[in-house]
Amino acid sequence: MGKPKVLVTRRVPPPAVERLKRAGFTVEVIEQDNPPGRAVLLSRLGGVAGLITMLSERVDIELLEAAGPALRVVANFAVGTDNIDLAACRERGVRVTNTPDVLTDATADLAWALILSVARRVVEGDALVRTGTWTGWAPLQLLGLQLTGATLGIVGAGRIGTAVGLRSQGFGMNVLYVDEQRNAVLEERVGARRVQLRELLPVADVLTLHLPLTPASRHVLGAPQLAALKPTAILINTARGPIVDETALVAALRKGQIAGAGFDVYEHEPRLTPGLMELPNVVLLPHLGSAATATRQRMSEMVAENVRAVLEGREPPNPVK
Ligand code: GLV
Ligand code: GLV
Repeated sequence: MGKPKVLVTRRVPPPAVERLKRAGFTVEVIEQDNPPGRAVLLSRLGGVAGLITMLSERVDIELLEAAGPALRVVANFAVGTDNIDLAACRERGVRVTNTPDVLTDATADLAWALILSVARRVVEGDALVRTGTWTGWAPLQLLGLQLTGATLGIVGAGRIGTAVGLRSQGFGMNVLYVDEQRNAVLEERVGARRVQLRELLPVADVLTLHLPLTPASRHVLGAPQLAALKPTAILINTARGPIVDETALVAALRKGQIAGAGFDVYEHEPRLTPGLMELPNVVLLPHLGSAATATRQRMSEMVAENVRAVLEGREPPNPVK
C-alpha cells in the first residue's frame, strides 16, 4: 500500500502541503488560482483519501462517487460548509471539517470595512477624486450616515456576528441582534438586546448579516423585509449571497427603499445580479472576508491538521457534524 493521497483543489498558502508531506502523505495540488473545472476536479479524485476543498467546490453525490471508497475526509478551506452535502458524506463515512475561529476577526474587520465604506460613501468619494471631477470641499457633498448613536442590527450572532458587535463599541452604536439563542457576550459587553427580525427591520440603521447558508436562511432578506427597512438604512452581507434576494435588493436600491449596501458575497457568485454593478450606492468586494495573510496561513495549517487526524485514525480538531 502506498502512502495515502491528499488532493488540494487549488493553490493555498504553504503550510497545508508542507505539513502533510512531512507527515508522510502524498500530496497533489491542482496548481491554479481559479476554481478547477468540474471535469478536471472529478478526473483527479481517483485513490484520494483526503480532499482539501474551497467554498467554490460542490461536494455532492457525484463527486463522492467519483472519489470512491478511498475518500475518508473532506477538509473545507472555509468556515461555511454549504458547498458540501453533509448527509451524503455522513452516509459514506466521509468526515467533513472546516476552519472556524481563525477567520472570525478577519471577517468581522471586513464587515466593518464595508459598513464604514457604505455609511461614509468612501468608494464614491474615491471615484470623484480619481476621475478628476472633484472641484473642492462642499457643504452638501456626499453626505452619509453618522454611526455614533445609530443602531446596528446583527442578524446571526454566532462567532462572527459577535465579533462585529464587539467592534461597534468603538463607534458608540446601539446594538440589537437576532438569534435563536441569547448571546451573553453581546448583552454584557455592549448592552445588546435580542429582538425578532420583524422588530429589528424598521429601526436598524445598519443591518449586517452573519448567518450560515441553510434552507432556512435563504432569502431571509427578500422584498418584504427590504421594504420594512428605513430609507436611510444600509445592508451589509459578508455571510453568503443567497441570504439576500438580490433581484429584490436591486429594486429596493433603485427605488430608494434603502440607502446603500455593501456586499462581499453574491447570490450567484461570482456572477452579479443584473443592475447591481450600475448602482453607485453599493460597495462590491470579491469575497475577501478571510483574506488576511495571517488568517489564510492559519486556515492552511488547520486543513492539514484535520486531514492528518482523520487519516491517522484520530478525531479531527474541527469536525462538522
Ligand atoms: C468564507 O466565506 C468561509 O466560509 O470561510
Ligand atoms: C462563523 O464562524 C460564525 O459562527 O459566525
